[in-house]
Amino acid sequence: MRVGVLTGGGDCPGLNAVIRAVVRKGASEYGYEFLGFRDGWKGPLENVTCELGIPQVRGILPRGGTILGSSRTNPFKVDGGVERIKENLASNGVDALVAIGGEDTLGVATKLSELGVNVVGVPKTIDNDLGATDFTFGFDTAVNIATEAIDRLHTTAESHHRIVVVEVMGRHAGWIALHSGLAGGANVILIPEVPFDLEKVVEHVESRFRTNFSPIIVVAEGATPKEGTHALHSEELDAFGHVRLGGVGDMIAAELEKRTGKEARAVVLGHTQRGGTPTAFDRWLATRFGLHAIAAVHDGDFGKMVALRGTDIVRAPLAEATRELKVVTPELYAEAGVLFG
Ligand code: F6P
Repeated sequence: MRVGVLTGGGDCPGLNAVIRAVVRKGASEYGYEFLGFRDGWKGPLENVTCELGIPQVRGILPRGGTILGSSRTNPFKVDGGVERIKENLASNGVDALVAIGGEDTLGVATKLSELGVNVVGVPKTIDNDLGATDFTFGFDTAVNIATEAIDRLHTTAESHHRIVVVEVMGRHAGWIALHSGLAGGANVILIPEVPFDLEKVVEHVESRFRTNFSPIIVVAEGATPKEGTHALHSEELDAFGHVRLGGVGDMIAAELEKRTGKEARAVVLGHTQRGGTPTAFDRWLATRFGLHAIAAVHDGDFGKMVALRGTDIVRAPLAEATRELKVVTPELYAEAGVLFG
């Protein structure tokens, strides 16, 4: 049996840990051979491959990024894309694929699986917005990086009596903002699921200054003000139709300066949240996902995605994982609200 492995979409800490676990268990327990496909779906589409075996996965457990490279290539947007993928898998003697990715990569995996390709999915995204799994790996690392940044920003904000707006990733879901905001003691948390009222933010900022502390506002990049004026960096769309977000933090900082008369700064954490070594939790989760994904291949249980439920790893239909995004519920957000201001 020869198994292809690819990583697609935005990279995230823990990808290498999955690849290592897939290859280590597949080679030693089942005697499988592996082939790496480079840069997400671009690999099988354009037949860009690399050697993948025990020697290639030595020492990669704590390394950020992905040794296979990644891209946001969508084969369904390319004429004859699916046929090319099927031909390239056949010409390389690849019997099954392990696709490690988020909503878009696994969306492609779902459709390919319906078209007869043997695929098992592994959920990754720092955004934690995939259905069917309690957590995706990469999220814990991103939350820890954002929390450390918030801790540091508290002390400099207080020294200068400034407002600091921290913009974190999360285009459709506010999980990173909510978790890091709670962990870092943010005074306001703004998420895409609940359009915000700037006047309410001003009230929280002013009440915070009355206690002689400086306000820290954590905002997800996809959060929008109630009036619906969405700040964007560009109108450019990627192959999956997503716009490049950014700018909401600057917009809020400028408005708060104007409305409160206090100095404000915006800090965009951006891709630092995705880089570098994964936390112990993400290494543990990614490793277990990898071990269970290759076991699913061995069982011929295709069209499935491994998922975390409590402390168990289960298999869920790929279609279930990609049907709808997992977003922050109003109840969870309301729970945090008592700490605002
Ligand atoms: O989906 C993961 C993610 O990190 C989002 O949080 C963010 O909006 C997006 O990727 C950024 O994408 P890019 O790496 O293309 O700038």
